[in-house]
Amino acid sequence: MAESSSRAAPVAAVVGATGAVGRELIACLERRNFPLRQLRLFASARSAGTTLPFRGEPLRVEELTAQGLRGVDVALFSAGGATSRRFVPLAVRAGATVIDNSSAFRMEPDVPLVVPEINPEALRGHRGIIANPNCCAIIAITPLWPLHRANRITRLQITTYQAASGAGAAAMEELRASTRAFLDGESYAPRVLPHPYAFNVFSHNTSVDADSGYNEEETKVMQEIRKIFADPGMRISATCVRVPVLRAHAIALNLECAAPLSVAAARDLIGGAPGVRLVDDRERNYFPMPRDASGQDEILAGRIRQDLSDPSGRSLALFVAGDQLLKGAALNAVQIAERL
Ligand code: A2P
Repeated sequence: MAESSSRAAPVAAVVGATGAVGRELIACLERRNFPLRQLRLFASARSAGTTLPFRGEPLRVEELTAQGLRGVDVALFSAGGATSRRFVPLAVRAGATVIDNSSAFRMEPDVPLVVPEINPEALRGHRGIIANPNCCAIIAITPLWPLHRANRITRLQITTYQAASGAGAAAMEELRASTRAFLDGESYAPRVLPHPYAFNVFSHNTSVDADSGYNEEETKVMQEIRKIFADPGMRISATCVRVPVLRAHAIALNLECAAPLSVAAARDLIGGAPGVRLVDDRERNYFPMPRDASGQDEILAGRIRQDLSDPSGRSLALFVAGDQLLKGAALNAVQIAERL
């Protein structure tokens, strides 16, 4: 049954239900026993009439239309920016609160951009749209928040190793198919991503600003971190790179704090961050890996060490890994819905 007995519980919708994030949204709602009166699933006309399992029952996928969204209380959107720009305002007008996984509304001043472990207070006074941040922003800064509060991070350098899932289910399939083709000695023409993906690494597939040289992904990460931390003056630079990994991003972080700090103090703060697990075993050379982060709710953090290029003792280097589809997208969105 897709319905629970509670009359007060909301009617929820997943928009983009058949996608990589959409499927995880459905799984998160089920796993976390999210209180629901009814769950409705929307995707494009291509998927209308297919079914997806929820709480042991097949649920029918509906074509997304403005009329179809009537009666929905909470809508979790993950169907791309164009679909969000068109349908999110319609859903809000129809009375729904929307948690939007696209970048369409993230930087609008009256739209909260929320990581529940960091800035849940931003939800207060929302006007119907709450934005789910960029996956790399979430994975990079959830471990850093307690450290930032104890000793302000004044400068942050981010280098990402991003998985296929951020580009959707089709990109994950491209990684599988092109790897198979490579191993079989066959040629494979990329269809989703702009470059050969198997056994390759390339700069993020978003467009590059001709003046600054930063790509859109890097710009999002930099702007969104400043917004979530409510720290417009934070100096940030990002380099975003796609690696042939299915669903967990790894990120190298270099940060400079306002005052000197020890590795031991940083390890305590980062290890104590909600939603974070320390994986920092120098003896075994065991640190965060996308393989270990895949399918996990927690972000893995480790390789915490003094940045020796800064003799002032204010700089640290570390390495994190987090599941892009979970904490980087679906889990964070469901956590926001739980807060509502
Ligand atoms: P569909 O499977 O019917 O194409 P991903 O991020 O993995 O590529 O998934 C994108 C999701 O967004 C899918 O569920 C896809 O549905 C959905 N989607 C794409 N375009 C539209 C649209 N115009 N209207 C509604 N859903 C859409």
